[in-house]
Amino acid sequence: MIKLGIIGTNWITQQFIDATQSGTDTKLTSVYSRTMKKARTFADHNHAAEAFDDMEQFFSEGSFDTVYIASPNSLHFADAKKAILAEKNVIVEKPAFANQRQMAEITELLKQHPNVLLFEAARQIHTSNFKAIENQVAKMPVIQGAEFTYEKYSSRYDNVLAGEVPNVFSKKFAGGALQDLGVYTVYDAVTLFGMPEDVAYYPQLVATGADGKGTAILQYPEYNVILNFGKTSNSYMTSEIYGLKDTIEIDDAGEIGDVVYINDEGQRATIGNVDEINPMYPELKDFERVINNPDDPQNRLDYDRWYQLMVNVNKVLFNLRQDANIVFPGDEQ
Ligand SMILES: NC(=O)c1ccc[n+]([C@@H]2O[C@H](COP(=O)([O-])OP(=O)(O)OC[C@H]3O[C@@H](n4cnc5c(N)ncnc54)[C@H](OP(=O)(O)O)[C@@H]3O)[C@@H](O)[C@H]2O)c1
Repeated sequence: MIKLGIIGTNWITQQFIDATQSGTDTKLTSVYSRTMKKARTFADHNHAAEAFDDMEQFFSEGSFDTVYIASPNSLHFADAKKAILAEKNVIVEKPAFANQRQMAEITELLKQHPNVLLFEAARQIHTSNFKAIENQVAKMPVIQGAEFTYEKYSSRYDNVLAGEVPNVFSKKFAGGALQDLGVYTVYDAVTLFGMPEDVAYYPQLVATGADGKGTAILQYPEYNVILNFGKTSNSYMTSEIYGLKDTIEIDDAGEIGDVVYINDEGQRATIGNVDEINPMYPELKDFERVINNPDDPQNRLDYDRWYQLMVNVNKVLFNLRQDANIVFPGDEQ
């Protein structure tokens, strides 16, 4: 049984806790919030015994062994460091860390705490629909690039238009479209095609100075992968991976609900359309499997692969930001 603590009490944390209630081996025990009222309300609603408004106390006295971190992006690093020092496993929301220096420091710290496991909650790569894409790509003799689109209007853009600076559109909190929905498209590309040789990012900035939407180009030796993502408009464009005459069509690069293979003759066959009971359920099951049995050779291989993907995605995100001159506080330290 995994005993879970949580940081952050927004809807995404509730969705993660809902996923634990679908026949999993994880139980929420401990809630941290900046206010005791919120911590207690969230804990009571989800039948957890412990509520904290002091993070030091949460880590020293909480009876959990694994923490799910869903604080604003810029706080993941400090929160994860505290967790590792307290010997707690970490599931950190995407994007795990804001820059390569933070990523490297976490990697070093984990070496000093070899029993601690750290996962980035990159939910879509754990789904069977994504695995259907991976399997199909592996079978295609020629790949000529891809275009991934994930663009959804954010209700918090209404706040930006009203002159406010919500965390997700704030550079201080390592926000912006690339760091939010863009991460999914970077994960798609890096998981399927590996590290690009070069990257370019063309952002459209909003009033807060953060990127509201943008287009990134990842250059591979033999093809380009184009990423479109944004939080200030809605896109209904499908995503595509190009073979020679064949194509994989994906309804949405972030949600991945329907995956269709279109063969050389233009015939369409659905290869993935599993409707998960909760979008976070597949990643939770994967993380549970590894936490419960970390020495199993397959689990170790999976863990190392996910960790390397996290490092690679962190690097691509950072390089894209550098290309577009998007600087977050702490980048230069
Ligand atoms: N996987 C997914 O599908 C998915 C979806 C949405 C978001 N996310 C990720 O989840 C994380 C949280 O996103 P969000 O949109 O929920 O962020 P958020 O609303 O800005 O903040 C999340 C939580 O952090 C705490 N918080 C807010 N402002 C803070 C501040 N200034 N200082 C310290 N704590 C603060 C709040 O909890 P308390 O008030 O209880 O302290 C809040 O509930 C991000 O990394 C995001 O990328 C993932």
